[in-house]
Amino acid sequence: MSNEPEQEYDDALIALLETIWGEGFLSPGGPEEVDLVLRGCDLRDKRVLDIGCGCGGIDLLLVEKYGASEVIAIDIESRVIERARELASARGLGDRIAFQRIEPGPLAFDDASFDVVFSKDAIIHIPDKVALAGDVFRILQPGGLFAASDWLRGPGEPSEEMNTYLELEGLDFGMADAKTYRSALEQAGFVDIALTDRNAWYRGVAKEEVARMSGPLYDRLVEIQGSEFADHEIHVWEAMIAVLEKGELRPTHLRARKPVD
Ligand SMILES: C[S@@+](CC[C@H](N)C(=O)[O-])C[C@H]1O[C@@H](n2cnc3c(N)ncnc32)[C@H](O)[C@@H]1O
Repeated sequence: MSNEPEQEYDDALIALLETIWGEGFLSPGGPEEVDLVLRGCDLRDKRVLDIGCGCGGIDLLLVEKYGASEVIAIDIESRVIERARELASARGLGDRIAFQRIEPGPLAFDDASFDVVFSKDAIIHIPDKVALAGDVFRILQPGGLFAASDWLRGPGEPSEEMNTYLELEGLDFGMADAKTYRSALEQAGFVDIALTDRNAWYRGVAKEEVARMSGPLYDRLVEIQGSEFADHEIHVWEAMIAVLEKGELRPTHLRARKPVD
């Protein structure tokens, strides 16, 4: 029997996010943001793991644009994996990307089996950052690179606005602050740790997104699941912008290297 959790990223949410962020993308910024996460990294002929691949738009880039020889792309939800497989096979890339549905928990890969571990805005769903960092360290080759983006929270107790946003968003988030991420990476043994805050960038972009949602994209959002759905999602975006403005929601790029023995 499958232990698959309820699909948080169901057809309606996938359609909404792809409408705002582009085909195959379930997080903001598109290829330009992926460029920044991977700035200066050479992925040519590398074996890459993508944690929380969603609909796989980024995995297509990892092979097509960055030249990775093999991408193992994992996610806990089957609907997004199906969509990712559809998109990859339509582009003829099915044999270079293995999309796998996994159970949440420890990563079932061999020690030192990847050159690069990538993730975009998915670790937010994994509450135990220490266990995750330890696992990523274990499966990387010596000298291997962890390059990711994630949604962090500011330090201290969440404000009323933050609790309102999290409740409206309704996704299973296990957020942590920058100190927690840095310490998890240090504890795991990583070096050259760098965190780059993207709050200012996304604060601007999210305002443009909500303007598009209320304007040119509105009819498409209604088409996905009716006007109540469209209005609710606009409300979620407004609540998100409030916590971006307060500095409590902090999209951040993460970089770390496993030392050579
Ligand atoms: C915001 S989406 C980002 C997807 C993709 N990285 C992108 O940027 O388009 C987060 C993804 O993380 C997945 N996810 C949640 N918990 C996970 C876990 N424990 N392991 C792997 N993926 C997970 C979700 O199912 C979802 O597809």
